[in-house]
Amino acid sequence: MNKKTVRSELAVKLKQVSLATPLLTASGTSGTSDEINDLENSPQIIDALGAFVTKGVTLEARSGNREMRVVETRTGLLNSIGLQNSGAAVFVREELPRLANYNLPIIVNISAGQVDEFGRLSEFLMEHDHDEAIAGIEINVSCPNICAGGVAFGVDPRTVEKAVRAACQPLRRDVFSLTKMTPNVTDISEPAKGAIAGGTDGLSMINTLRGMAINVHTGSYYLGNKTGGLSGPAIKPVGIQMVHECYRTIPECRRGTVPIIGIGGIATWEDALEYIMAGATAVGIGTAWFVNPNVFVEIKTGLETYCRKHSTTITQKIGSVHEI
Ligand SMILES: Cc1cc2nc3c(=O)[nH]c(=O)nc-3n(C[C@H](O)[C@H](O)[C@H](O)COP(=O)(O)O)c2cc1C
Repeated sequence: MNKKTVRSELAVKLKQVSLATPLLTASGTSGTSDEINDLENSPQIIDALGAFVTKGVTLEARSGNREMRVVETRTGLLNSIGLQNSGAAVFVREELPRLANYNLPIIVNISAGQVDEFGRLSEFLMEHDHDEAIAGIEINVSCPNICAGGVAFGVDPRTVEKAVRAACQPLRRDVFSLTKMTPNVTDISEPAKGAIAGGTDGLSMINTLRGMAINVHTGSYYLGNKTGGLSGPAIKPVGIQMVHECYRTIPECRRGTVPIIGIGGIATWEDALEYIMAGATAVGIGTAWFVNPNVFVEIKTGLETYCRKHSTTITQKIGSVHEI
């Protein structure tokens, strides 16, 4: 688990787990240990991270959506990967032991097609995590609910509550839970309250915004799935507003008993600090990492410099904009 030295200015806590920095990989954008180990400056990248969030794991293997699965737009990336992964059995046997070598808290992002499948997946992970390498799980309620005709779990507060309760129930006492919220709703605080009622320890927001791109030259859709999820710079103001709204209106978020992980369009230390000032305890970075392999190191250095210059800490800046 977390054996890194905890640096005081950047250190934050997620339940009982101390993170050396508030920087997390955003699920689905960092693959597994192999991809990071291939990078020339991997020790510095690992050092800049507070925790590693895995790509989405499902109970059974999934081959994902048909191609094309990603397309760049002027302001961000559209993807429709369709949760391609090797399934939970391969994950615990092959990927988890490699991830454990990072010496970082490992947060496993989980997806399911039905409420009770979240419970079975969580139970499977706990039963097979023999070395207790899993520090947390991130319950992706942005994925389609088969029982609701494929509508995301995350749009209905009652369904979110049930999915979160099912996923949390089998967890070991030392494993914390985050719920990955979908932004494709009118008022994010309602499903967030559902997640808290279901027992989540924290909220991760936001997942991608539903979008589409059409190739006018071929007259067809760019993505094989027609629609996809938009990430990157375009979604940052949406994410900031949603973090701000939950921090403002949900007492548990305001008190820090249910911390928020701010995600969406972060590419610089200023972006990360913006989320923290809006109410996030930590941040996840995804799309920017595709364009800049040094993004975590740069953001960590920027936040450190800021904290030293202003004699402050990340913890002191959480939700600071609400004080004015
Ligand atoms: C290629 C790709 C795959 C993703 N896969 C997952 C996933 O498996 N589970 C999940 O909860 N979110 C997934 N996401 C959403 C990201 O974790 C993140 O919420 C989103 O991309 C916004 O952050 P960003 O703008 O920094 O990329 C994925 C995003 C991308 C771009």
